[in-house]
Amino acid sequence: MKVLIVGGGGREHAIAVSMKKSKRVEKLYCVPGNAGIAQIAECEPSIGVMEFDKVVAYAKEKAVDLVFVAPDDPLVGGLVDACEAAGLRTFGPRANAAILEGSKAFSKDLMKKYNIPTAAYETFDDADAAIAYLETADMPIVLKADGLALGKGVLICNTLEEAKAGVKEIMLDKHFGSAGNRMVVEEFMTGREVSVLSFVDGKTIKTMTSAQDHKRAKDNDEGLNTGGMGTFSPSPFYTDEVDEFCKKYIYQATVDAMAAEGREFKGVIFFGLMLTPKGPRVLEYNARFGDPETQVVLPRMKNDIMDVIDACIDGTLGQVDLQFEDNAAVCVVLASAGYPESYQKGFVIDGLDKFDEAEGYYCFHAGTKQTAEGIVTNGGRVLGITAKGANLKEARANAYAATEWVSFENKYMRNDIGKAIDEA
Ligand code: AMP
Ligand code: GLY
Repeated sequence: MKVLIVGGGGREHAIAVSMKKSKRVEKLYCVPGNAGIAQIAECEPSIGVMEFDKVVAYAKEKAVDLVFVAPDDPLVGGLVDACEAAGLRTFGPRANAAILEGSKAFSKDLMKKYNIPTAAYETFDDADAAIAYLETADMPIVLKADGLALGKGVLICNTLEEAKAGVKEIMLDKHFGSAGNRMVVEEFMTGREVSVLSFVDGKTIKTMTSAQDHKRAKDNDEGLNTGGMGTFSPSPFYTDEVDEFCKKYIYQATVDAMAAEGREFKGVIFFGLMLTPKGPRVLEYNARFGDPETQVVLPRMKNDIMDVIDACIDGTLGQVDLQFEDNAAVCVVLASAGYPESYQKGFVIDGLDKFDEAEGYYCFHAGTKQTAEGIVTNGGRVLGITAKGANLKEARANAYAATEWVSFENKYMRNDIGKAIDEA
């Protein structure tokens, strides 16, 4: 079959590599793609993920059998609906279900209504009302812009002054654009964070192996929030006990809640969990694969990804035995120095040909571009270097060894990805 992947980052490269392994896939296409994806798929860099008419026309022209929509913006904006309306078989939630990620107020109300454990919260459409509430609230407290904000619309405030400044930033100065027309104010929770991705067919949910991200730019979780600087999988903190709790109170409950609301969810639900002293709580939902979680989860999946995708679309996920390798993987992101603020790009990357997937080494491209001089850096996050190992420590050593194979002028990485493993 022929498949079109919509997206162009490290996550999409990992999805493409996973699909390429399938005997059922004869040809891959990707819009807009990147230089790494272009090694295994035909890419069309001129089409953006929000240009729905162009994406649909391209899928029709190439007569693809499946469209896979990976990023949040087109999912929330309704690209799956647009593809389906054009008669294209499509993987991902429709807009009415992607709202699970698209509106924090929606997801919080859903969790409250269906008793799914999460932080206590209030929703505000008005800055004065929000400030009046904050004046009586306990600090620290968490402010969240309602809509999509590139993962950056969350402010953790330690004092009332910070919280007031945060309300101004989100609701009045519109730092995150229209995402801040509405705001959620949430109880501050403490604990370890775990990401659990899952496949969902509308009724049945099958969780994948767990992972942990590192959101901050600098070692020891200092610096600004980023899209993610590295991941490891599985999380040693995601114990059988935690899994049992989440199965009982969170996973199926979420799928059932969406169905009960007339918003049947088909695709991937990403549960951002916090393991608090009072038990696991949902921090956030995403309606898609995570980036860079996918880069450590999919390389460990034993199933043919096309079989799982078909089962999600056809509502037969209950018949799938989802299996993961009994090993570990670590992904270290190589970024451009200065990310997530200002950075230079356009530097030639050396050493990209040293990676052998059969040996458990992957070089996923995030921000790269092919030029006459070779493949050059083209973004803040440039590459995701993933390595497997028999256990987490071995995978981490392998991943860091592999980061040395690649060089470019302003290469930057965190040196403590997976440090938490030592505390397990
Ligand atoms: P989110 O985009 O909702 O995942 O939030 C981004 C990050 O902010 C999370 O990964 C957490 O580290 C932090 N965070 C979000 N909500 C809370 C909360 N209620 N308490 C403590 N930290 C939070
Ligand atoms: N790694 C977090 C995300 O994909 O949103």
